[in-house]
Amino acid sequence: MKEFFIVGNWKLNKTISESTQFVKNLMPLLTQGTSRCGIAAPFTALESLVKESKGTDLLIGSQNVSDQKDGAYTGEISAEMIKDVGAGFALIGHSERRQFYHESDELLGKKIKRALMGGLIPILCIGESLEQKQANEVISVLENQLDKALGALNQDEMSSICIAYEPVWAIGTGHAATPADVQKTHKIIRDFLARKWGEKVCYHLKILYGGSVKPDNIRELLSQPDIDGALIGGASLEVESFAKMVNIAREI
Ligand code: PGA
Repeated sequence: MKEFFIVGNWKLNKTISESTQFVKNLMPLLTQGTSRCGIAAPFTALESLVKESKGTDLLIGSQNVSDQKDGAYTGEISAEMIKDVGAGFALIGHSERRQFYHESDELLGKKIKRALMGGLIPILCIGESLEQKQANEVISVLENQLDKALGALNQDEMSSICIAYEPVWAIGTGHAATPADVQKTHKIIRDFLARKWGEKVCYHLKILYGGSVKPDNIRELLSQPDIDGALIGGASLEVESFAKMVNIAREI
């Protein structure tokens, strides 16, 4: 049985009480299985979520992390602080961070390093815009994003990261990429990483797909050999729908 990683990305949603209630409601709905699930929550809810999910296999993570360890960086949250509340992973470079907060690939490279040094699993998000897709630039865009953000990592560090391929045009639009197209792209990503870091590392590396994943389409997506999980926005906000998707992953 394949071990998938199903991650909800709550974005700017849910208070502390809404978050803990979600976990209370979620746990009885989940079936047993090897596939892992996680929630990337707002910073304010992390500690309560970690406490609420203690003793379960639900992983809690942040949606961002600072590129700095400490010091005069008003408004920043470091990897050590996230680890300190018991969270285990961090999304890095989500397209909304790239688009609205102008995060560059170079900055994301620093964030990845910081996350690893702080003991978090970084989930690097990459993906092309609609214009880049229409200009047939998908492969070069993705390879460039990977190269710049991961270029400084050694093999050991590479074995501790995840990638989430999220075409920008599929996020929040209701129009997911087709499973066949995602499979093709994930294979290109894996082959690219294998050329740089060796096949052994990249064979085990999890490549998640994100962009309008729903209970209706997750089974077919996860049935592709190079899709190792999903990063889910809108459909992760409702507990029944998130539970359904995790349970489908546990059936496959
Ligand atoms: P979506 O978002 O599932 O609502 O398309 C995915 C994401 O932004 O990670």
